Amino acid sequence: MKLTIITSSPEETIEAARALGNVIAPGDIIAYKGGLGAGKTTFTRGLAIGMGLGDCVSSPTFSLVNEYQGAATLYHMDMYRIEGEDSLESMGFFDYDLDSGAAAVEWSENISSFLPEKTLYITISAADGENSCKREITMECSGKGAERFASAWDRYIR
Ligand SMILES: Nc1ncnc2c1ncn2[C@@H]1O[C@H](COP(=O)(O)OP(=O)(O)O)[C@@H](O)[C@H]1O
Ligand SMILES: [Mg+2]
Repeated sequence: MKLTIITSSPEETIEAARALGNVIAPGDIIAYKGGLGAGKTTFTRGLAIGMGLGDCVSSPTFSLVNEYQGAATLYHMDMYRIEGEDSLESMGFFDYDLDSGAAAVEWSENISSFLPEKTLYITISAADGENSCKREITMECSGKGAERFASAWDRYIR
């Protein structure tokens, strides 16, 4: 499954992410690909709103992991400085109960070999050059949750 949408503002990205957040369940892993300022944290803000956690998200740049508790817990992680299994272990990645919560992972490129098949990949890129607000956002999943994730963006895809 692979779906691409275009957003033209942070608000539109939050709205698309909110729709996805509505269908997110414990055990889901959302792995972002996309550079600095692409909109990964902005997307996660919408995701948390859709999960019923409120407008609570701030960047995990310094904390590496922010945990938001609600009906389902959201672990928002930053892998920018992670390389290899040792640093992944020392940031506590393997200590989180990712079966009872959902994870949203920025800079997931750095831990690609540790991501399971069920992972939902969200790729965000500037669609119209660096200074534009246009973003191309692609969701891609080859695991079990694919249809559920895709259903969130039904209204965008005609
Ligand atoms: N369509 C858009 N979607 C998401 N963010 C956008 C968009 N247009 C402009 N922006 C801006 O781009 C920046 C994205 O920052 P952020 O979400 O922190 O990115 P990242 O976490 O990928 O580094 C924000 O300042 C946001 O307002
Ligand atoms: Mg960020």
